[in-house]
Amino acid sequence: MLTQVAIIGAGPAGLLLGQLLSRAGIDNVIIEHRSLDHVLSRIRAGVLEQGMVDLLREAGVADRLGREGLVHDGVGLAFGGALHRVDLKALTGGNTVTVYGQTEVTQDLVAAREALGRPTLYEAEDVALHDIDSECPRVTFRIGGEARELRCDVIAGCDGFHGISRRAIPESALTCFERVYPFGWLGLLVDRPPAAHELVYAHHERGFALCSMRSAERSRYYVQVPQDERVEAWSDEAFFAELRRRLPAEVAAAVVDGPSIEKSIAPLRSFVAEPMRFGRLFLAGDAAHIVPPTGAKGLNLAASDIRYLHDALREHFLDHSQAGLNGYSARALARVWKAERFSWWMTGLLHRFPERNAFEQRMQQAELDYLFSSQAAMAAMAENYVGLPY
Ligand code: APR
Ligand code: PHB
Repeated sequence: MLTQVAIIGAGPAGLLLGQLLSRAGIDNVIIEHRSLDHVLSRIRAGVLEQGMVDLLREAGVADRLGREGLVHDGVGLAFGGALHRVDLKALTGGNTVTVYGQTEVTQDLVAAREALGRPTLYEAEDVALHDIDSECPRVTFRIGGEARELRCDVIAGCDGFHGISRRAIPESALTCFERVYPFGWLGLLVDRPPAAHELVYAHHERGFALCSMRSAERSRYYVQVPQDERVEAWSDEAFFAELRRRLPAEVAAAVVDGPSIEKSIAPLRSFVAEPMRFGRLFLAGDAAHIVPPTGAKGLNLAASDIRYLHDALREHFLDHSQAGLNGYSARALARVWKAERFSWWMTGLLHRFPERNAFEQRMQQAELDYLFSSQAAMAAMAENYVGLPY
């Protein structure tokens, strides 16, 4: 098989890149090691920055998003038992976020790719990259036990944190930065109306909690739990009781219990791999970086990486210029690190860190007090939450 761009991974990054390249007339093949059903079944956050909404619209996949997405002008921060609304729109000169589950984004991208008739090879086994620092890189894999090879000009490594693309880069050529947090998020999905019409991030002495949603009928809640916690230890009743303990009274009273349709624990880490390029291999999305979900930046960073990589590939294939590809890693990392900082800051602000000493506890309290006593501090938080410019 032969193509111009081999995309490893059919998550949001790979699918969005495939959609943009296809619309630009650049041939591409997506190789995915899970099944289509598995890809479509993933439960993931979806708080979209305006930049991502605009990019999905440019890709021609924003019709349902426009109909069903929930535009939020503000977000709630709770601490000291009180709920404080952050007026994102007023503080950022009109910017907002849109709540639209990543599952929906993936469904829209999969449907668009099927409509274009572009190839996505699901359930590919033993995917391996070869000659990535040559002008003729290759991808080998097996489909249904049959050995296959895809020759290409460029490989886009969009295969997430646990994928093979980052690992294909020689260790001597890669520098990794990591912070693993001493806790996780226990998340629950329930078909009940949300407790509030905007998200509520809660700092509490028992630990962090978050009230989010997927729609007006489906809610998503999280509570901070110890790093080694097991999801089996938590009944739905125990979850809702703990959630209510951590929320201001008026929010707790508005939480509607119901049987969970999904319940799981996710670890929290900050991670960046530099550079995001080796030869003809370019990393994008979770393959190159991970953020703790506190700032809702994971999906949005995948989108800005794809913006930059798509523009660079267009220059390469259509204008025969290498400038974009040569500048891709530095350009993407400049935005990645700012989002890493914001996600790290939000996580440090709102979670309970059992190992922190008395001084560090006071620093967290002072950070919270300052945030809510300063318009400038709140504006800084707001401009990061809605998304810094691409
Ligand atoms: N070969 C082929 N595909 C692979 C391989 C492999 N060896 N390893 C992983 N994959 C696939 C996964 O099955 C997944 O479908 O690559 C895809 C990676 O998708 P994501 O992990 O969703 O990463 P990305 O597309 O960068 O999107 C980032 O997804 O996980 C969330 O929080 C994250 O919101 C962020 C977004
Ligand atoms: C979610 O709805 O799952 C969600 C929302 C905001 C976050 C993290 C997760 O910061």
